[in-house]
Amino acid sequence: MATLLSQLLPARFPQQGRLDALHLPAHGRGSALPGDLRRLLGGRPVSWDLPELPMIGGPLEAEGAVADSQREAAAAVGADQCWYGVNGATGLLQAALLAIATPGSSVLMPRNVHRSLIQACALGGITPLLFDLPFLPDRGHVTALDGPWLARVLQELDRQKQRPVAAVLVQPTYHGYAADPLALVAPLQARGLPVLVDEAHGAHLLPGVDPNQPRSALAAGADLVVHSLHKSAAGLGQTAVLWAQGTAVDSDAIARSLGWLQTTSPSALLLASCEAALGEWRSVRGRRRLNRRFDQARALAVQLRDSGLPLLETQDPLRLIWHTAAAGINGLDADPWLMERGLIAELPEPGCLTFCLGLARHRGLARRMQRLWRELCRHQGGTSPAEVFSAPPLPLLGAPELDVRAAWCGPNRSVPLAQAAGAIAAQLICPYPPGIPLVIPGERLDSLRVQWLLEQAALWPDQIDGMVKIVA
Ligand SMILES: Cc1ncc(COP(=O)(O)O)c(C=O)c1O
Repeated sequence: MATLLSQLLPARFPQQGRLDALHLPAHGRGSALPGDLRRLLGGRPVSWDLPELPMIGGPLEAEGAVADSQREAAAAVGADQCWYGVNGATGLLQAALLAIATPGSSVLMPRNVHRSLIQACALGGITPLLFDLPFLPDRGHVTALDGPWLARVLQELDRQKQRPVAAVLVQPTYHGYAADPLALVAPLQARGLPVLVDEAHGAHLLPGVDPNQPRSALAAGADLVVHSLHKSAAGLGQTAVLWAQGTAVDSDAIARSLGWLQTTSPSALLLASCEAALGEWRSVRGRRRLNRRFDQARALAVQLRDSGLPLLETQDPLRLIWHTAAAGINGLDADPWLMERGLIAELPEPGCLTFCLGLARHRGLARRMQRLWRELCRHQGGTSPAEVFSAPPLPLLGAPELDVRAAWCGPNRSVPLAQAAGAIAAQLICPYPPGIPLVIPGERLDSLRVQWLLEQAALWPDQIDGMVKIVA
């Protein structure tokens, strides 16, 4: 049997031939790692595995190299403070939410929040006030929130007399849909709501890189912004950063909740990787490299489109989305077929395959993708009917009927999904990736929702089973 260690050895997969690993982390299996980090890893094996020695410190220490590095990074970005994280955007989003909302309060958030934020609601006794988003039926994605849609949500908030204490935005989405965050952050702050932005997929939107990209929420004045540095910068897996600016959020509260959730032994390697990933963005050479990647990615997309490959358009040039449904192909079936041929996608879905180009250079990819697409169409084209995906039947704004934690942790029983109408969910239903919950504990499953979930279970047979836990 293959051991985990043997799986990590230089890939022997596929057995022969070329491998295009277009998945995250964005450093492309090491080829786009910043030079300093590469030198560190190439030196004496594991000499870097150090504790929080006084000269190194940690993300919550006032002194030491980590503190200095965080101060310099915040100053370079124009934020007041930042904290490096070694438990991904997950850990930092959770800490941020626990810092801005107290038990018993509610927080406005979009339906496409990552599951980590719902978990933080359960941990902190916070009610998620969830708003629906515009839906694109030809591919089954929610798209970017924009100003007019948010205005409707805020009107509904007033009509329902809801009083959240903060707001969360997700920008860009996993697929790269993004709008100008200025039109979103300002109206929320005007209501006195501190704004936390999950920009896990948008570290490359930081200022000074590419004026054609939507701006980062940091430049739009958001109070807290989280970047996953392994998704949108050249950081190692688990690296992330939380930026804070302004006075609306108490930095002691952030430090307190970071202390609750973070390990007392943060990996010095991962912390150094946070610094190195951000250092790429700060250096002229690094920015030039990033711009070259954007140019190459845009040229690749033009070439693929011109050859007839159906690519979806988003605001992130580093995400390449094959619209498999347009050729009657299920992305979940196409994924293993392509993997056997050495082309590895990040996110297979019933209607699409999303490839993350990341920060590595991919020579000859256009020709290879064109060839594999033609072969895929010959093998699987028209095997599943061209899909039109149905939007989830959700109100514009709503909260779970029962407290998330009470529903999740209390007595429950499993029933077939088809018999769950009228019950209250006691679990998340959440295909991963992308990690966006379809159902949240505490939500009532009306018959329309059950019908829609049965459709989803048919579309994601390995991810959504036919049973669901409901509150007993
Ligand atoms: C939008 C979004 N936010 C947060 C996360 C969590 O990021 P991490 O894997 O760095 O914990 C993800 C992961 O897929 C994500 O897609």
